[in-house]
Amino acid sequence: MRVCVIGTGYVGLVTGVCLAHIGHHVICVDNNEEKVKLMQSGQAPIFEPGLSELMRSSSEAGHLEFTTDLAAGVAHGEILFIAVGTPPLPTGESDTRYVEAVARGIGTHLDGAYKVIVNKSTVPIGSGDWVKMIVMDGVAESHKSLVTAGGVSKAHSLEEMAAGFEVVSNPEFLREGSAVYDTFNPDRIVLGGNSPKAIAMMQELYTPLIERQYAEDKSLPPVPVLVTDLSSAEMIKYAANAFLATKISFINEVANICDRVGADVTEVAKGIGLDSRISNKFLQAGIGWGGSCFPKDVLALTHIAEDYGYDTKLLKATVSVNQYQRLLAVEKLKQELKMLKAKTIGLLGLTFKPDTDDLRDAPALNLIEELNRLGAKVKAYDPIISSSGMRHGLTGVIVETDPERLADGCDALVLVTDWEQFAKLDYEKMAKLMNHPILIDGRNFLDPEALKSAGFHYVGIGR
Ligand code: UDX
Ligand code: UDX
Repeated sequence: MRVCVIGTGYVGLVTGVCLAHIGHHVICVDNNEEKVKLMQSGQAPIFEPGLSELMRSSSEAGHLEFTTDLAAGVAHGEILFIAVGTPPLPTGESDTRYVEAVARGIGTHLDGAYKVIVNKSTVPIGSGDWVKMIVMDGVAESHKSLVTAGGVSKAHSLEEMAAGFEVVSNPEFLREGSAVYDTFNPDRIVLGGNSPKAIAMMQELYTPLIERQYAEDKSLPPVPVLVTDLSSAEMIKYAANAFLATKISFINEVANICDRVGADVTEVAKGIGLDSRISNKFLQAGIGWGGSCFPKDVLALTHIAEDYGYDTKLLKATVSVNQYQRLLAVEKLKQELKMLKAKTIGLLGLTFKPDTDDLRDAPALNLIEELNRLGAKVKAYDPIISSSGMRHGLTGVIVETDPERLADGCDALVLVTDWEQFAKLDYEKMAKLMNHPILIDGRNFLDPEALKSAGFHYVGIGR
């Protein structure tokens, strides 16, 4: 099928590349010229495992193109994905101005040929109908200018131009760091909309994925497809992220109790995770959840609820536990070192989770700020940030090129991101290079016994 993806961020680019890989002809549109040039030259602007390879092979096969030309993208696609960012406003509400600009732009380029417009971006509940309205405004604008120019033919009557599109909500559930894998191995596909024709086109688009042709385990039954109304589909996205964030805050709260009563949260997580009603996923206690989705979506849902007269008690508690957790490592450092002024603290990891270069709402940023405020010097080593030269506006931290240089002269280390590489570092050598061999394991990722025999004083979260 002919697909256009507008917005080539983490979600849009992965979606576009994967749809091209399964045989569709995809044009990705982005208004950032520099980014488009980079992608046209075969390079991915983000780090995501497996993405570059698929991007290259699909481009070579002629299935994938990049452009800044929205008109060309709209003309090409039978299915148009809106995947621009919806970052949080200072108030916590979702900033939908990019979605609005794109929806209007699509409207001005519609020519009567039938298109399905898909909301892939996480947008406030009710945005499906709102996008429809904005697209219609765009259609009316272009119709007016056509009339003024005397170019309206029967094929371009306002009614026909307007009848030529439907809006579908198709939320994404991709985790950064495994977004390509998640695309080919989805737990479910959610389609919200009330047009059988549009839903049928979306099912056709996803058929190779539904039939698990690209899945790791091809013998699994087909991927469940949930067809529902627009608002429920939009709500599913928020509810899924809010539930997962709440689950992590829950285990973090349990960890804080474990710390006080001498239990080990990793054992507790195993014990409760074996209950199939609970499941063992997303029960890793640590220094809190971050990233581009959980913080923004939990806050946005709180705001949406407030707009409609409901005070979200549980979600507020979820956020409040997370705020406490974000600075827990500093509290633990204070317990170990007392005064932090003039101490040197080394952070193992900067990104909000492993296998990504994304620093959006990363716990590391809170730690750097608070440690700086207390007068400590902060150094960091991150497998991607250190080697890529990308600094994303990082301030108040010296980025070291390897773990041993990081350890050198440190009064304590904090493991911030559970990068696989960190399991195999030469901790014995690192301990010897430090002023005080203290390690706060902010992800309960390392083996306490191994660290102790390497010479470290090991401090976990709730263990
Ligand atoms: C996506 C969104 O779908 C968001 O709603 C969801 O919650 C998380 O995933 P993300 O992929 O992280 O966001 O967005 P980002 O990395 O900010 O990329 C957005 C892209 O859209 C950028 O490349 C930007 O240049 C482009 N863009 C933005 C446009 O092409 N046109 C615009 O008008 C605005
Ligand atoms: C999330 C959702 O999982 C995905 O479905 C959605 O579409 C986008 O948002 P992402 O933010 O990329 O994905 O990563 P995720 O793996 O969910 O981790 C989010 C944060 O929670 C990270 O900071 C991670 O370190 C933290 N986390 C995760 C924990 O602290 N404990 C856990 O057990 C799991």
